[in-house]
Amino acid sequence: MRVAVTGSNGLVGRRLVSQLIGSGHEVLGLSRGDRRVEGAFTYAAVDLSDGALLSKTLGDFKPDAIINPGGMTDVDGCERDPLAAYEANVSGVASLAKAARSTGAHLVHVSTDYVFDGEAGPYAIDAKPNPRGTYALTKHAGEQTVKALLPASQWTIARTAVVFGWPSTGKNNFGFWLVSTLAQGKQVPLFEDQWVSTSHATNVAAMVKELAEKKLAGLWHTCGAEVMDRVSFGLRVCERFSFDKALVKASRMADVKLASPRPAKSGLDVTKTALSLDAKPWAVARALDELYRERQEHPS
Ligand SMILES: NC(=O)c1ccc[n+]([C@@H]2O[C@H](COP(=O)([O-])OP(=O)(O)OC[C@H]3O[C@@H](n4cnc5c(N)ncnc54)[C@H](OP(=O)(O)O)[C@@H]3O)[C@@H](O)[C@H]2O)c1
Repeated sequence: MRVAVTGSNGLVGRRLVSQLIGSGHEVLGLSRGDRRVEGAFTYAAVDLSDGALLSKTLGDFKPDAIINPGGMTDVDGCERDPLAAYEANVSGVASLAKAARSTGAHLVHVSTDYVFDGEAGPYAIDAKPNPRGTYALTKHAGEQTVKALLPASQWTIARTAVVFGWPSTGKNNFGFWLVSTLAQGKQVPLFEDQWVSTSHATNVAAMVKELAEKKLAGLWHTCGAEVMDRVSFGLRVCERFSFDKALVKASRMADVKLASPRPAKSGLDVTKTALSLDAKPWAVARALDELYRERQEHPS
C-alpha cells in the first residue's frame, strides 16, 4: 500500500512510519520542519495549515491510505493559541479529508479521550462527546469534519489516551517524564483523582496501522487495556523500574488551577478493539516492559 502519515516526527507518527516500512508499505511522511526520523521513506515538510501544499503533495503521492496522528497536542498551548490549534486540528483535518475524497484514499484520523468531559468514564465507543477546553474542542471538531466530508466507509477515527514512549521526541510525555524524574531520585506529584487509560506509542501505532491496512471504518478506541488513577500508574512504574515508591506524591487535580481543563474520570473502553484486531491493546505491564526495553536501548 501507499500510505501517507502526518506528524511523522511525532511520538506515534515515527513509530507508525517504521512499522509501515517494516511491513513493506511505501510511505510518505509529512511533518513540519526538518525530517527528524531515519528510514526508507519519502519525507515532505508540510504545515497542516497549508491546505494547498497538502493537496498538491498528497495528490502527487496518490495514497491508498492517509493516517493523521499529526496535530497540535500541547493541551495548554492550544488554550493560549486557539488559532494555531484550529489550523492544525480542524483546518488541517479538513484538508486531509478533501485530499482523501479526491484521491480515494481511506483516512484514519487519530483523536483523543479528551472529546469526553471526564464526568463518567471509562467511555464506550458510542458515548456522547462533551469536549471542554480548546484542545478538546478542536479535536472533537476534527472528528466531526472527517465525518462530514467523507462517506462512512472511507473514514476511521482512532481515539487514544495518555501516550508515552522512549526517548522523548523533544517534548515530554507522561512515561518519559515519570521515569526520567524518578531516576534522578526526584519526587513526582501525581493526581490521585484523575483516572486514565495509558498507552505505549508502539502499541497505538500497531493498532492504527492495522485499521489503515484493513480499512476498518468507524470509531475505534486504540489505547492501553487498563484504566487507573495516575498515582497507581506511578507506583507501577516504580515497581517495574525499581524506583523508590516514596517518591510518588499524591496530589489532587481538583486543587490545582490548570490553564486548560482535563477530564477527571476518563479512560476508553477497548472491548471492540481487543475483539476485532490482531494488534491487541496492551496491559500496563506489557507497556512498561516496552518502555523499560526502549530505555535500555536508548539510555539518556
Ligand atoms: N500524546 C498523548 O498523550 C495523546 C493522548 C490522546 C490523543 N493523542 C492524539 O494522538 C495523536 C498523536 O499524538 P503524539 O503524542 O504522537 O503527538 P506529537 O508527538 O505531538 O506529534 C504530533 C506531530 O504533529 C506535528 N504537528 C503539529 N502541528 C503541526 C502543524 N501545524 N503542521 C504540521 N505538523 C504539525 C508535530 O510537529 P513538531 O514535532 O514540530 O511539534 C508532531 O510531529 C494526536 O492526534 C493527539 O491528539 C495523543
